[in-house]
Amino acid sequence: MLITTLNEFIIERQADFPYAKGELSRLLSHIGIAAKVVNRAVNKAGLSDILGEVGSRNIQGEDQKKLDVFANQKFINGLQGSSECCGIASEENEEIIIFDDEMGRNGKYVVAMDPLDGSSNIEVNVSIGTIFAIYRRLSPVGHRAKIDDFLQAGSNQVAAGYIIYGSSTMMVYTTGRGVNGFTLDPSIGEFCLSHPNMTMPSVGFIYSVNEGSYLKFPNGVKKYIKYCQENDEQTKRPYKSRYIGSLVADFHRNLMLGGIFMYPHTAEYPTGKLRLLYECNPMAFIVEQAGGRASDGMGKRILDMIPIELHQRAPLFIGSRNMIAKVEEFMVNFPDER
Ligand code: AHG
Ligand code: MN
Ligand code: MN
Repeated sequence: MLITTLNEFIIERQADFPYAKGELSRLLSHIGIAAKVVNRAVNKAGLSDILGEVGSRNIQGEDQKKLDVFANQKFINGLQGSSECCGIASEENEEIIIFDDEMGRNGKYVVAMDPLDGSSNIEVNVSIGTIFAIYRRLSPVGHRAKIDDFLQAGSNQVAAGYIIYGSSTMMVYTTGRGVNGFTLDPSIGEFCLSHPNMTMPSVGFIYSVNEGSYLKFPNGVKKYIKYCQENDEQTKRPYKSRYIGSLVADFHRNLMLGGIFMYPHTAEYPTGKLRLLYECNPMAFIVEQAGGRASDGMGKRILDMIPIELHQRAPLFIGSRNMIAKVEEFMVNFPDER
């Protein structure tokens, strides 16, 4: 069987971006290298001294795990090493990281990332991931990256992807010409093309939401969950409920099988929990490229939101087209009382 490695594929596709002169390709392959380094640590997490907390909290007030900090550092190093990146916004850093040397100032791209997604699943051997979004900078090349380089609408992304450290490790990414998935073959240490041209079923039968927060959900979401649970032969309900608690893993399953993932606003998280720049936007870009949709539940496209803060949160409804349309219908028909 002929195999195509991630690097071969990236080079083959370089012609799609005549203006890019290989810079984006270099950036993507360095992300692939960092992913392998993180994968190695994740794989033996129970053996080495890498489980547990570091004793610090990130900007969101969340306890940082050792693996959060480790993955963050590896991706920062990888992106800096690519010499194409002038700055990074990370979940684990309050401020943007600026590569303020000559090489960094000449980088054309900025990256927003969640280096380790699903932190609460690290300790218990459940799938976790990494999410990244790549933008062309707005500030002039040759200067320091600026915060405005990161506060762009998701529709400006030039590439986005995730790595899932699951029963196998995969990298899935898009540059706006479809979605492709690569599985890490540990015996040769390469990501190999395993899922070319991924598309999401437009009709899904899985709903993913943290139902423990049910009482705090908006009315429309409550009604939609009940709809998912009703019996109806024609629409194949009840749907299956599946929730891992790692966005990457929940999203990946739904992308493959068809489904909806919801993280609405709740009393605890009045604007939703997930972060627009490095959780919602990259997944929204991928889902649209695969034929699905991502909205705030009220019909607003995630990719059209203009961020005003680095760590801004947004409600996220993402998945198969029929399911997003249905939940939006419930949100309109059953508004919250004020
Ligand atoms: P992170 O580990 O990067 O902080 O992200 C956790 C996120 C996301 O992965 C997941 O979908 C969501 O939090 C789960 O939240 P609940 O525990 O509230 O369901
Ligand atoms: Mn996350
Ligand atoms: Mn994280």
